[in-house]
Amino acid sequence: MERTYLMIKPDGVQRNLIGEIVSRFEKKGFTLVAAKLMTVSKETAETHYGEHKERPFFGELVSFITSGPVFAMVWEGESVISTARTMMGATNPQEAAPGTIRGDYGVQVAMNVIHGSDSPESAEREINIFFNEEELNSYDKEV
Ligand code: CMP
Repeated sequence: MERTYLMIKPDGVQRNLIGEIVSRFEKKGFTLVAAKLMTVSKETAETHYGEHKERPFFGELVSFITSGPVFAMVWEGESVISTARTMMGATNPQEAAPGTIRGDYGVQVAMNVIHGSDSPESAEREINIFFNEEELNSYDKEV
């Protein structure tokens, strides 16, 4: 089963959108495997956003994501990587369709509420940056 890394950014946390966003993925039918409120270190932010290192906004990106707590999550389900991105909407909230998370709650590209992995390779890499194996829950055990 596919897994993805989703992270509610400091703007989303401060605007009390955690419950609303988690609810959307729960109602869609995906399974929450791990979640934690955490403050990202500069080193972790630079590793996570390594592919954007040469972009002019890299410094801004790192300082924003480390500016306050984020809500880091791992979600599981069929095609969860691409479906979560569809539910998030375009990177720039001004271009994101109404009904999507960024379309409904965002205005600026830097403060676009949520991050989601863009491929299976990124998902694996990002999950391993933010979570260790023991934090990834299994629903297989009998209740
Ligand atoms: P995210 O999905 O977290 O991945 C990289 C982030 O870079 C992206 O969301 C945006 O928030 C951010 N970003 C993209 N373009 C710009 C820009 N021009 N200025 C500031 N941040 C940007």
